[in-house]
Amino acid sequence: MRQAGRYLPEYRAVRKRVSFLDLCRTPELAAEVTVQPIDRLGVDAAILFSDILVVFDAMGVAVEFNPAPQLPDPIRTTADIARLRWGDPVEDVGYVMDAVRACKRALADRVPLIGFCGAPFTTVSYLVEGGSSRDFLEIKKLMFCEPRQFAVLMANMSELLARYLIGQIDAGVDAVQIFDSWAGALGPRDYEQHVLPHTIALVERVRAHAPSGREPVPVILFARGNANTLALTARAPADVIGIDWSIELDDAIAVIGPGRVVQGNLDPGVLLGPPELIRERVQATLRAGAHAKAHIFNLGHGISRFTDPEHAKLMVDTVHAGLER
Ligand code: CP3
Repeated sequence: MRQAGRYLPEYRAVRKRVSFLDLCRTPELAAEVTVQPIDRLGVDAAILFSDILVVFDAMGVAVEFNPAPQLPDPIRTTADIARLRWGDPVEDVGYVMDAVRACKRALADRVPLIGFCGAPFTTVSYLVEGGSSRDFLEIKKLMFCEPRQFAVLMANMSELLARYLIGQIDAGVDAVQIFDSWAGALGPRDYEQHVLPHTIALVERVRAHAPSGREPVPVILFARGNANTLALTARAPADVIGIDWSIELDDAIAVIGPGRVVQGNLDPGVLLGPPELIRERVQATLRAGAHAKAHIFNLGHGISRFTDPEHAKLMVDTVHAGLER
């Protein structure tokens, strides 16, 4: 999940000097804020500081962050789609590859580094909606009125994202996470028909990549709002299935089966509660996670900017202390 960010005073101090996009585009600074939560919280992995939308630099599509993302020229018509450029993400978003290398140097093998991208549907949704959305009417209009155009857009995006993740792997990340933050905008039938095949293609492409001299890296797939589509998401051959906080973790494990590795799923809102509640809910999450083949403790979505860093630290310490008998 997002773990660097505005809840940390040291992040806000950096952001006083540079815009969010400049931070993403300056490898040494991106590395600095990537490492901040490692130093402050003692978490066991770092996630690259970047954003799922910077990949639009490979497509010549502008995006602004205010701080919510906004596209001045969203893609709405078949003519817009025809004009899209499908560039080389390793080249055109080279600053992300440089940021990976800078992070690896800054981390010096203390903890592994996770790279990431948006899933095809979430990324295409931003492209078409032009920002965050409540109803997803533009993307649904395209999907239902122009299903073939939509499928081509999704297939091209899946391929671009595969090359983007493979670039991050070759630059040195130890695992990758795919965020399908808007998967919950669709009902199961449309998710299965219009979205899942492209997500599966992305997972398969990335898992088939053999980095030179290293083992293939694990792929984590996180679909948000996925309680009702979890069985479908789990068809993807991801090494780890991320679970959001809208379902009890043991129920999620019952749906996807005990043979999978799960990640999740504490409600980030719990960190706004009192210390006793945080301890109790972390314990409950660990207890539920024990039903899976393996469990990576995590929040069930990004941390809120209003979180007290001490509460985040308490969560990490409670996980490290382990399950109370
Ligand atoms: O923890 C880390 O260091 C990783 C950083 C990270 C960011 N975005 C930084 C960020 C990651 C993994 C993301 C992924 C991302 N970005 C997702 C998928 C995960 C999810 O949350 O579902 C999505 C949907 C986005 C798009 C996005 N970027 C949104 C909706 C926003 C606004 C968020 C807000 O709180 O207002 C952003 C901006 C953004 N991305 C910020 C950060 C730290 C806040 C910008 C700032 O510092 O001003």
